[in-house]
Amino acid sequence: MTKEQVGIEELIEKKIADAYKEKFPVSRQHHEKLINYIPGGATRSLSYFKPYPIHIDYGQGAWVFTHEGHKLLDVTNAYGAIVHGHGDPDIVKAVQEGIARGSQYSTPTDGQYKLAKLLCERIPGFDRVRFVNSGTEATLFALRTARAYTGKDKILKMSGGFHGTHDCVAASTKKNVITAGIPKGMTEDMLEVPFNDFEAFEKAVKENSDELAAVIMEPFLGAGGVVLPKPGYLEHARKVTAKNNVLLIFDEIFSYRVNTGGCQKLYGVTPDLTTVGKVVGGGLPIGVFGGKKEIMNIFCHEKTSKPLYHSGTFNGYETVMQAGYAALSKYDEAKVAYINSLGDQLQNGLLKSFENNGLNIQSNQIGSLLNMHFVNEPVTTAEQVLESEEQLHTLMHLSLLNKGIFTIPRGLFILSTAMTKDEIDLLTGKIDETLKELLPLIEEKYNHLLL
Ligand SMILES: Cc1ncc(COP(=O)(O)O)c(C=O)c1O
Repeated sequence: MTKEQVGIEELIEKKIADAYKEKFPVSRQHHEKLINYIPGGATRSLSYFKPYPIHIDYGQGAWVFTHEGHKLLDVTNAYGAIVHGHGDPDIVKAVQEGIARGSQYSTPTDGQYKLAKLLCERIPGFDRVRFVNSGTEATLFALRTARAYTGKDKILKMSGGFHGTHDCVAASTKKNVITAGIPKGMTEDMLEVPFNDFEAFEKAVKENSDELAAVIMEPFLGAGGVVLPKPGYLEHARKVTAKNNVLLIFDEIFSYRVNTGGCQKLYGVTPDLTTVGKVVGGGLPIGVFGGKKEIMNIFCHEKTSKPLYHSGTFNGYETVMQAGYAALSKYDEAKVAYINSLGDQLQNGLLKSFENNGLNIQSNQIGSLLNMHFVNEPVTTAEQVLESEEQLHTLMHLSLLNKGIFTIPRGLFILSTAMTKDEIDLLTGKIDETLKELLPLIEEKYNHLLL
């Protein structure tokens, strides 16, 4: 590295970090109080970033407000759980009216009926569903269901696929994910193939079919970088699993929002089991797993002498059911088309900005989800996502906060229906400004990203 490089790098890093510290001093005070009680000052790994995370006071529509009083455009939307923005009046009304009548009972409820019916009517892979409290629990039970139903133990997943944090799926190829504490036995029945590799998929399924209960996959890698399936990949997965007597599970916890029936409806590929979460709880904690009637009836108390056991104090929590029903009722075809058009607008704006700035970098988008990658070729694998230049992501994230835009550090943007074209223009403009700010560093240190 030359002296000049260090100069530019240090200058840009310092300028951005100083501006951040100057803009968010109260967040720093809150962080310093919190670290006395929560290690590192964050109760989920992802919400921490250096030098310290912002602390949000409240949210309203497309915006969040920090304790400093800064108004930031929220493009994280609770990692995808919020789709109608903060404090959506219909969801608030459903929660307030619901909770006033009691929040949870020890019986089946009307809220469970309404949300289960809506989900089964919309999502092709759902004949029957069961409710849990997080996406992690939903994939855990989808795997248990598949293993119990088939009597087989092995599960195949995609490298770069994210299915939550329970032991057998937490081990991941992602950078920085430490999986100490997971006993070897939990993962010895887990197989992994690269996403979008047709041959590796077929080979792994064929060779292990006697022991393989299921394949679990996201229709596109979500948290793993919005990596879309190559044409025919999902169809291939369906065909190969069916032929080899292996169940196919689509984890649509992140991807559901792209269509009223999830990606499975969009791509016309119906799995045996499906998990959803995030938006289907209207911003409250939820997970749902379900699938074909003949499989899900393994839980049926009426028709099975020994139904598979599945309990949970908060399963089907009535207030969550009401919030989810309110959120999904207004997340209809028209709303999905609207939010997806905002995603298209963002994608078009960014592609123009990359070109105008002479940059050969990538933006992967589907509907209201978009991930930028500092990589100089189209990103179709999880391995390429790991190659994206981390320093540029870190600087872009802080710099956008300085400009009033709250994003996910690794370049993931999640939109809400509370946004309009104006917010997308604002967002595109601020990303463009940030790229211009980083350009001297890119020219010096990352010139493989130049056109
Ligand atoms: C595809 C997918 N599966 C599972 C999960 C885990 O969900 P939760 O964070 O609600 O446990 C996530 C969360 O980001 C996800 O994106």
